Amino acid sequence: MGWDTWNHFGCNVDEDTIVSAANAIVQNNLTQFGYEYVIIDDCWQAPSRDNQTGAPVADPTKFPNGMEYLSNKIHSMGLKFGIYSDAGTLTCGGHFGSLGYEEIDAKTYAEWGADYLKYDNCYNEGLAGTPHISHERYANMSRALNVTGRPILYSMCSWGEDGPWNYAQTIANSWRISGDVMDSFDRYDERCPCTSVIDCKLPGFHCAVSRIIDFAAPLGQKAGPGHWNDLDMLEVGNGGMSFEEYRTHFSMWSILKSPLILGNDVTNMTNETMTIITNTAIIAINQDAAGSPANRMWKRSISQGGETSLWAGALVNNTFVFALLNTSPVNQTVEIDFVDVFFDQGPAYQTQPYEVFDLWQKDDSGNWGKNIGTIQGGMNVTIGIHQTMVWKAVPAPQASTKRNYAEL
Ligand code: GLA
Repeated sequence: MGWDTWNHFGCNVDEDTIVSAANAIVQNNLTQFGYEYVIIDDCWQAPSRDNQTGAPVADPTKFPNGMEYLSNKIHSMGLKFGIYSDAGTLTCGGHFGSLGYEEIDAKTYAEWGADYLKYDNCYNEGLAGTPHISHERYANMSRALNVTGRPILYSMCSWGEDGPWNYAQTIANSWRISGDVMDSFDRYDERCPCTSVIDCKLPGFHCAVSRIIDFAAPLGQKAGPGHWNDLDMLEVGNGGMSFEEYRTHFSMWSILKSPLILGNDVTNMTNETMTIITNTAIIAINQDAAGSPANRMWKRSISQGGETSLWAGALVNNTFVFALLNTSPVNQTVEIDFVDVFFDQGPAYQTQPYEVFDLWQKDDSGNWGKNIGTIQGGMNVTIGIHQTMVWKAVPAPQASTKRNYAEL
């Protein structure tokens, strides 16, 4: 969990942008909710590397005190420091990339005190097209990071090209699954042309949130602790979606166990934005130690467009999460059958009663996750336009049919 400059600031980044954001993260207590990485995305670089050593250099105008200074400052605030580069000759913004410079770059990032590397895929000289070629190119940086001895979270950003979910578990901590997210719930955009990311030949950008959810649906099986599907940075708070849509965005990224990297201006947030990004019950699902992404158990097309879908996943301690998503433009009444929710667990789980908690409602003490009762078999719900409802299910103690000795 953390914050990244790109979605809101693009290339307009400098020391002030980062320090102000880090201050806002601390002042808004976002650290308490788990947000800790402060990541500088593209455009931090000087026009060229150090011409003596070949080491990467930060833009001296944007970062007059250098990266080590900035990193120390971020660490002194109790946060972690993330940097960005690209497994190509240039970054997507046209700055120097790391292809062929993996060792010196990793060493320099470690000296700067980096805790996270986002590693992009532009200008890769065509070194893609098979999983093996992509693996080798990304593994070079993985090895170089490991040689430094500093723990650095390695976040691959190859947009799902060559199916990193099939090979990246042993070299990276997360991998992007698609082209870049756009701050829109379902806007059609031909620049994100693939209908599925499996064998997608042009990941592109301007991928709407509902599209990325669809892309992620089959990939949960490939992720787990230490190796995650990255659905891209959050757009919550950037203004292109409604409150309900942003709740869906945050809920789905959470239950699919995507990294939660904020992408808004954290120095200027509405109450609605804060409400969404600080829902502790939803965050707990994202951070659940079992690390098991929810799976889509069914989807049903709606005649006016979009669909309803049911998602379910296991959590630690024999508890479960399930969610209903409505991407259609009409309210829907849906019957949720526990045979579907607990399909993976089998008949005993499908028939037993559960204490069910609605994770977008607060209980009487003001904590997220309201107990809505003991429920057996299934439930009927009405769901709004573009809404996601998320519940946690805890097996309820069943009345014992045996009488104990003392009662006799
Ligand atoms: C690519 C990445 C984005 C961002 C930009 C920066 O498009 O996918 O997340 O890092 O490059 O140029």
